[in-house]
Amino acid sequence: MDTLWRIDQACFDPQLAYSRTELALYMRRPGSFTLVAEGEGGGVPGNGQGPASILGFIVAEIRRKSGHIITIDVVAEARRAGVGSALLAAAEEQLLRAGAVTVALETPVNNAAAIRFYKQKGYFVEKAVGGYYSNQMDALVMTKELARSVVR
Ligand SMILES: CC(C)(COP(=O)(O)OP(=O)(O)OC[C@H]1O[C@@H](n2cnc3c(N)ncnc32)[C@H](O)[C@@H]1OP(=O)(O)O)[C@@H](O)C(=O)NCCC(=O)NCCS
Repeated sequence: MDTLWRIDQACFDPQLAYSRTELALYMRRPGSFTLVAEGEGGGVPGNGQGPASILGFIVAEIRRKSGHIITIDVVAEARRAGVGSALLAAAEEQLLRAGAVTVALETPVNNAAAIRFYKQKGYFVEKAVGGYYSNQMDALVMTKELARSVVR
């Protein structure tokens, strides 16, 4: 938990990053799950049991038939190597198995890397929400129809 919180702090501006309490609440919410990407090096050391280090994580939740990506964080030195893709695909699979037909997420309007990433994964901009982040930053709500895209 502490490692994931530190990764989140490093991934986002202070006004966007979650407090420890917020992150813990999202991770423990009913219907929520967290997946962690481990590697042999380059990330943040794990719990000391083995050589694995933590390269990133995703927190997602399901409510009825709607999936929601709460956050996806990849450590800076492990980016553009497919870690985010693997985390998102694994979360979408888990959401689909749990009965989700759509997935939604919010991202800051100025987070060009995340917007490119999500568009590459089949997400569309549904709308913008003014002042979504602490009344200071607008968000884009992006959605994807899961059932159509994942089932082959
Ligand atoms: C967004 C994020 C999760 C992507 O993780 P990642 O492991 O780097 O993503 P991948 O390597 O799987 O990238 C897959 C594709 O997404 C697109 N993409 C990812 N990062 C990109 C960037 N910085 N600029 C443009 N396109 C990007 C590319 O099409 C990429 O494929 P390519 O590398 O073959 O060109 C990562 O940049 C991150 O953690 N950022 C900080 C936290 C954050 O903003 N999270 C999202 C909050 S809503």
